[in-house]
Amino acid sequence: MPFDVAQFKEAMSRFITGVTIVSGIEDGEPVGFTCQSFVSLSIDPPYVAVSPARTSTSWPRIARAGSFCVNVLGEHQVDLCRGFAVSGGKKFEGVEWHPSPATGSPVIEGCLSWVDCAVELVHDAGDHELIMGRVLDLGTGDGSPLVFFRSGFATLARQSHNEDREQ
Ligand SMILES: Cc1cc2nc3c(=O)[nH]c(=O)nc-3n(C[C@H](O)[C@H](O)[C@H](O)COP(=O)(O)O)c2cc1C
Repeated sequence: MPFDVAQFKEAMSRFITGVTIVSGIEDGEPVGFTCQSFVSLSIDPPYVAVSPARTSTSWPRIARAGSFCVNVLGEHQVDLCRGFAVSGGKKFEGVEWHPSPATGSPVIEGCLSWVDCAVELVHDAGDHELIMGRVLDLGTGDGSPLVFFRSGFATLARQSHNEDREQ
């Protein structure tokens, strides 16, 4: 290959993303991890995808239930983002959440949106897995997004809204 791992990471880090917490329920307990690899795939039927690393300890626990919820983080939730980017511990301690109506997966209060999914397809993706979810339910909140760019957090300095646009 004409590039090394560091160059690959450097190139990918220039693709700006939002940040999510992927959550689920295992034996009645909330489980989750910070995840930037989230993408909207299909509108009809509604599909999204997330990509957990094979090293993720939370994903196998979430996957057992066959469902997961993607919580899109706002700029005010950087501490949550950091708290869920560690393995182990009681990550949900002190976190306000409620079970989603469709699957019971944790919906974290204050998120910009949440997308509740049934696992539709699991595909090998090298040192990650590619998980396609069928969207069963969703909700939206207000606020500005938490942004991840070149391995650091950022916020939007200027934001143009489409709220005035005719639908
Ligand atoms: C901004 C950010 C984005 C991340 N994106 C992902 C991701 O897309 N997939 C993933 O598996 N881990 C991602 N991580 C790392 C996991 O959150 C981290 O490895 C965590 O320890 C996993 O927890 P777990 O072992 O409980 O699953 C990200 C971390 C941060 C801070």
